[in-house]
Amino acid sequence: MSGTTATETDLAGLVAQAVDRRRNFAIISHPDAGKTTLTEKLLLYGGAIQQAGAVKARGEQRKVTSDWMELEKQRGISITSTVLQFDYDTTTINLLDTPGHQDFSEDTYRTLAAADNAVMLEDAAKGLEPQTRKLFEVCRMRNIPIFTFINKMDRPGREPLTLLDEIESELELTPWAVNWPIGSGEQFRGVIDRRSREVVLFSRAERGKQAAEQKLSLDDPALRELVEEELLDLAIEEMELLDAAGAELDIEMVHAGELTPVFFGSAMTNFGVRPFLDAFLEMAQRPIARSSSEGLIDPLREGFSGFVFKLQANMDPRHRDRVAFVRVCSGRFEKDMTVKHARTGKAIRLSRPQKLFGQDRAVVEDAYPGDVIGLNNPGMFSIGDTLYVGPKVEFEGIPCFSPEIFSWLRNPNPSAFKNFRKGVNELREEGAVQILYDTDESKRDPILAAVGQLQLEVVQHRLENEYGVETRLEPLGFQVARWVAGGWSELEKVGRIFNCKTVRDAWNRPVLLFKNEWNLNQLKEDHPDFELSNVAPVV
Ligand code: G4P
Repeated sequence: MSGTTATETDLAGLVAQAVDRRRNFAIISHPDAGKTTLTEKLLLYGGAIQQAGAVKARGEQRKVTSDWMELEKQRGISITSTVLQFDYDTTTINLLDTPGHQDFSEDTYRTLAAADNAVMLEDAAKGLEPQTRKLFEVCRMRNIPIFTFINKMDRPGREPLTLLDEIESELELTPWAVNWPIGSGEQFRGVIDRRSREVVLFSRAERGKQAAEQKLSLDDPALRELVEEELLDLAIEEMELLDAAGAELDIEMVHAGELTPVFFGSAMTNFGVRPFLDAFLEMAQRPIARSSSEGLIDPLREGFSGFVFKLQANMDPRHRDRVAFVRVCSGRFEKDMTVKHARTGKAIRLSRPQKLFGQDRAVVEDAYPGDVIGLNNPGMFSIGDTLYVGPKVEFEGIPCFSPEIFSWLRNPNPSAFKNFRKGVNELREEGAVQILYDTDESKRDPILAAVGQLQLEVVQHRLENEYGVETRLEPLGFQVARWVAGGWSELEKVGRIFNCKTVRDAWNRPVLLFKNEWNLNQLKEDHPDFELSNVAPVV
């Protein structure tokens, strides 16, 4: 290329290589499906942790789970998202860990904005569960490829065909079983790889130890000596049914989020995890081009670009810092780089970028598309902000999701008003909670709007501990929020709406609160052309 220096060519090659070897994903599941267990097994393969149990270990050993908050410790749950990067073979994997607790799904939603692939983890006995469905909807909105791992096959579960049917009919996602189980629960004997017709036999190992995986061909007569005839015949019969149904494992459909490869296994006994990881890495998307004001931004675009998808304050109680998590979208990020902040137009030197592994941090020297870096955030960044080098780009923002719980936040101590307002604003910016206000200006107290009750408690706890303000919650009896697509003028045209409260968000946009879905549907029936949205317009 004329006018291109050798270093530019080298850099382009370096980025291309890095993109080629990177895979990034998040796990979506309902609490208890086995996400922690699966994460731990994946990290073991990557050599990122040395022993099983490290993820959930207590006390000194505790490495990955973030226990930075008192509240988190009291509740024994993991509230914060962490990003885990590890190498496996020739691949660099970024696992965007998402909080398992259902009250924190808003955080999880945002993390999905940074993910290129998702692993949908199901408990074989439970199938699709509420939180998995919700998170799936977010993946669907963004057409994220979904890989399904059906876990706990060592325990009695539902019929595998029923589990596939459920995915197909309820999520309108075509399942394609990559392997097929022979028996389940006490009679679980292993899986058959549908592509290679190889059987991997399961043997029960001591808890925590890896079960031996014996492999042989489906046509090997020795198989019938090892597995009960009727279990094997049933599995083969079911596989023939799947073959007859005719769907193919079409990678383009996988990448479009229309078809999900399905794997059966047991994370706890470490059965089927490595074959899953291998197949997943073979089929998963590389870091993809992202939508922006300038059209799609290819990861190989020359200059660095990325966006903030999560803010976190006081991760380390010793430093009381704030960290902005940036997903790198294009080019190479380097320590001490000066970037442009798209929203303000300011130039910022990023001198202390960090890579995070659970609670451990290291200064990062460079990062590539698909990676996540943590930046110290002295109040400069908001969720959705774009950083870039070279010609201006601004990535599509991250929508706020529809809250389901609403509560006045009262400040009984007027002398603490300044801190109260500061705390509320900072927690809103950080995305800890959404804030709404009454349309009556004399009612100045904010309304907290959250996806789960615990989110409200975290806000109270943090206001007290970080800003020194004690607050009181006063619940409002609403369950559904909708943004008015056309703004105040459209709302005026509709006139008085019954069983509904009009409030405004932090950007002075009208939001309608309903007691239930039924009231909302009533409005829709009465005004079919009145456009409402369950996600806040992006600012
Ligand atoms: P989560 O992060 O999705 O909430 O789930 P987690 O991994 O903590 O797993 C929830 C429970 O399910 C754990 O049991 C875990 O051991 C168990 N589990 C995970 N995978 C499998 C599996 O493949 N087979 C079976 N039989 N169980 C599995 P627990 O008793 O709640 O906790 P623990 O005492 O084992 O830590």
